[in-house]
Amino acid sequence: MDSREQVFKLRSIRRTYQVGSELVHALDGLDLEIYDREFIAVTGTSGSGKSTLMHTLGFMDSPSSGEMFFEGKDVSRINRSARARLRATRIGFVFQSFNLLPKLSVLENVLLPLVYGRTRMENKKELGMAALERVGMEHRSTHRPSQLSGGERQRVAIARALTNRPRLILADEPTGNLDSKNRSRIMDLFGSLLEEGITLALVTHDDEVAQYAKRRIRMQDGKIVEDDAP
Ligand SMILES: Nc1ncnc2c1ncn2[C@@H]1O[C@H](COP(=O)(O)OP(=O)(O)O)[C@@H](O)[C@H]1O
Ligand SMILES: [Mg+2]
Repeated sequence: MDSREQVFKLRSIRRTYQVGSELVHALDGLDLEIYDREFIAVTGTSGSGKSTLMHTLGFMDSPSSGEMFFEGKDVSRINRSARARLRATRIGFVFQSFNLLPKLSVLENVLLPLVYGRTRMENKKELGMAALERVGMEHRSTHRPSQLSGGERQRVAIARALTNRPRLILADEPTGNLDSKNRSRIMDLFGSLLEEGITLALVTHDDEVAQYAKRRIRMQDGKIVEDDAP
């Protein structure tokens, strides 16, 4: 049996969208367990439900039905503010298009996740600089995102995902806009986060990227059809 702590348990999760008169089953009875310090790559063809799964795990979207446990607690039917709180404090997100705000400096972008908290400004800056150091971008703290390369922008986005010291990082095609050199750099960075105790789940359609993960899951039609969990 597995003695590691369970981060997520999903049971018969469905997420259905109504599009006109048609029902789209983005997640169609999905079961999944995620354990502490796992590094999971989620693959599958376009439309198989990968992003919907990431949004569900990140409390950005609610399942239409099914059971969901986070750190052993039933979160299937928690309200909006409880979801927002978990999203802001326990989860870090990384996106394919980086999603940095162009008018803010690198440091200001990294501090964005702290706006909801009560952290004092000096402490915020310290946390932000520490996050930038972890990704090797502290020397660019006053730059604007437009002054950085794609790989550097993604490192800043990862720093932003780290500011709140999340339990879990969710990344949807984080290397999709990067060349191969930056791709391996970002994947090495994810590998080092794992060693620091973070649990990781990332979506990719790139087999090379998936090889960095310890566990590979393949989705099809809103279900998991392959899982090489040890
Ligand atoms: N907001 C939405 N409204 C309607 N259908 C959606 C919405 N989001 C996703 N879908 C549909 O759900 C299915 C899964 O989408 P998605 O999770 O984005 O897949 P993937 O990330 O694997 O490409 C697709 O058929 C998609 O068209
Ligand atoms: Mg997607």
